[in-house]
Amino acid sequence: MTLTVYRFCLVVFFLLPSGISGSEPDHETDPAKDSSLYQSPFFEDNERCFKCHGQNTYSYTNENLGREVKAIMFSERVIPRGKFYESNHKSFSCTDCHSSDYTKFPHPGELRMEQMYNCIDCHGNDEKFAKFHFEEIEKEYQESVHYQYEEVGFSCWKCHDPHTYKISIRNSSNLKETILYDNNICLNCHADYSHFQLLSDKKEINIVAKHDWLPNQESHFKSVRCIECHTKVNDSILVAHRVKPVEYAVKGCNECHSQNSLLMSSLYKFQSREQRADGFLNGVILNQSYVIGANRNEYLNLIGLLIFLAVAGVIVIHISFRIIKKRK
Ligand code: HEC
Ligand code: HEC
Ligand code: HEC
Ligand code: HEC
Ligand code: HEC
Ligand code: HEC
Ligand code: HEC
Repeated sequence: MTLTVYRFCLVVFFLLPSGISGSEPDHETDPAKDSSLYQSPFFEDNERCFKCHGQNTYSYTNENLGREVKAIMFSERVIPRGKFYESNHKSFSCTDCHSSDYTKFPHPGELRMEQMYNCIDCHGNDEKFAKFHFEEIEKEYQESVHYQYEEVGFSCWKCHDPHTYKISIRNSSNLKETILYDNNICLNCHADYSHFQLLSDKKEINIVAKHDWLPNQESHFKSVRCIECHTKVNDSILVAHRVKPVEYAVKGCNECHSQNSLLMSSLYKFQSREQRADGFLNGVILNQSYVIGANRNEYLNLIGLLIFLAVAGVIVIHISFRIIKKRK
C-alpha cells in the first residue's frame, strides 16, 4: 500500500513536469521539416492537372459554343495541392502513375479502365524501403477481412489515399494526432456509407452502436486506434495489417488495462522500442497517456524497493540501538 503511494508520488513529482515541459516540438516552424517549402521538380507539369483538379470548379473551352464554360469538379475528384505536396509521393508527377493521355480533355473514355500499380509493384524487394517490410504487409493484407471479402474492389489504395497518404506513427511526436489520422482512414468507409456501399451490399453498420459496450467510447477512440482491437499483433512490422473477422476483435479490458498491455506491442511499439534503448521501458505510457493498470515501471519499482529497504534498515538500526541501550 505505502509502496503504491510512494510510486504515485514519484510519478506526480518526477514524471509529470517532464511530460509538461517536454511538449511537442513545433514542426510548423522547423524549416528542415516544413514540407510546405517542398519544391517539386514537376510543379509546372502538375499544374496542368491541378488547374482543374485542384479546386471545386474548373473551366474549359467548349469548341461547339466557342466560349469558356465553368463547371463543378465533384469533391471526390478534387486533389488538395497542399496535402499532395506533403504526401510520401510528393516528388511524383501525376503522369508517373496516370496515363499521359489525361492531358487531353475531355479525358478519353478508355482511360477509365486504366490499370494502376500497386504498392508492392514499386516497393517490393527494394533495399531502400526494407524497413517497412512491404512483403510482410502484403501477406497480412491478403489475410485480412477486406481482401478476403472484397478482393476485387479493395486494394492498398483504399486506405492509403494515393494523393495524400503520409506515414504517421513512425514519425509521430504527437500520439493523439496519429491516432486521429489512423482512425480517420477506417472511418472514411465505416462512418461514410456512400464509400462503404461502393464495395459491399451489406447494410450500414452503426459504429457507435457496435461499440456501446466500451465505456467512455469517445475518450477511448481518441486514445487507441481501431487497429489495436481489430488486427492481429505482428512483431515483424510496425503497423499490423491483418484485420480479423469481427468475432476475434479485442473486447477484454485486461488486454490493455494490465501490466503486459497489448498496446506495448501495437500503439506504443515504435516509441517503446526507442525508449527501451534508454532503458526506460514504460516511459511512453507514463508520459503520454496514463493507462490504468498498465503504468508500472521497472525503475519506479526499484526505487520503491530501495525506499522500502532504507526505511526497513532505519527501523532495524533503531531497534538494535534500543536493545543495546537497554542491555547497558
Ligand atoms: C479541363 C479540366 C481537366 C484537366 C486539365 C484535367 N482533368 Fe482530369 N478530370 C476532369 C473532369 C471534369 C473529370 C471527371 C469526368 C471524367 O471522368 O472525365 C476528370 C477525371 C479524371 C480522373 C478520373 C477518371 C475516372 O476513372 O473517373 C483522373 C484519374 C484524372 N481526371 C486525371 C487527370 C490528370 C492526371 C490530369 C493532368 C494530366 C487531368 N486529369 C487534367 C477535368 C480535367
Ligand atoms: C503514386 C501514384 C499516383 C500519383 C502520383 C497520382 N495519382 Fe491519382 N490516382 C492514383 C490511384 C492509384 C488512383 C485510384 C484510387 C483508387 O483506386 O481508390 C488515383 C485516382 C485519381 C483520380 C480519381 C479520383 C480519386 O481520387 O479516386 C484523380 C482525379 C486523380 N487520381 C488525379 C491525380 C492528379 C491530378 C495527380 C497529380 C497531382 C495524381 N492523381 C497523382 C495514383 C496516383
Ligand atoms: C509507381 C511506383 C510507386 C507506387 C505504386 C507506390 N510507391 Fe511509395 N514510393 C515510391 C517512390 C519512388 C518513393 C520515394 C519518393 C521520394 O523519395 O521522394 C516512395 C515513397 C514512399 C514512402 C516514403 C518512404 C520514406 O522512406 O519516407 C512510403 C511510406 C510509401 N512510398 C508507401 C507506399 C504505399 C503504402 C503505396 C501503396 C498504397 C505506395 N507507396 C505505392 C514509389 C511508389
Ligand atoms: C484497412 C486499411 C489499410 C489497408 C487496406 C492497408 N493499410 Fe497500410 N496502413 C494502414 C494504417 C491505418 C497505417 C498506419 C498509418 C501510420 O500511422 O503511418 C498503415 C501503415 C502502412 C505503412 C507504414 C508502416 C510503417 O512501418 O511506418 C505501410 C508501408 C503500409 N501501410 C503499406 C500497405 C500496403 C503495401 C498495403 C496493401 C498490401 C496496405 N498498407 C494496406 C491501413 C491500411
Ligand atoms: C477497444 C477495442 C475496439 C476498438 C478501439 C474498436 N473496435 Fe470495432 N469492435 C470491437 C469489438 C469487440 C466488436 C464486436 C462487437 C460485438 O460483438 O457486437 C467491434 C465491432 C466492429 C465492427 C462491426 C462489424 C460487424 O460486422 O458487426 C466494425 C465495422 C468495427 N468494429 C470497426 C471499428 C472501427 C472503424 C474502429 C475505430 C474507429 C473500431 N472498430 C474501434 C472492438 C473495438
Ligand atoms: C474503402 C473502405 C473501407 C476502409 C477504408 C476500411 N474498411 Fe473495414 N470494411 C469495409 C467493407 C466494405 C466491409 C464489409 C466487408 C463484407 O463483409 O462484405 C468492411 C468490414 C470490416 C470489418 C468487419 C469484418 C467482419 O468480420 O464482418 C471490420 C472489423 C473492419 N472492416 C475494420 C476496419 C478497420 C479497422 C479499418 C481501418 C484500418 C477499416 N475497416 C477500413 C470497408 C472499409
Ligand atoms: C485497446 C486497448 C483498450 C481496451 C481494450 C480498453 N481500454 Fe480503457 N483505455 C485505454 C486507454 C489507452 C485509455 C487511456 C485514456 C486516456 O489517456 O485518456 C483508457 C482509458 C479508460 C478509462 C478512463 C476513461 C477516461 O475517460 O479517461 C476507463 C474507465 C477505461 N479505459 C475502462 C475500460 C473498460 C471497462 C474496458 C473494457 C470494457 C476498457 N477500458 C478497454 C485502452 C483500452
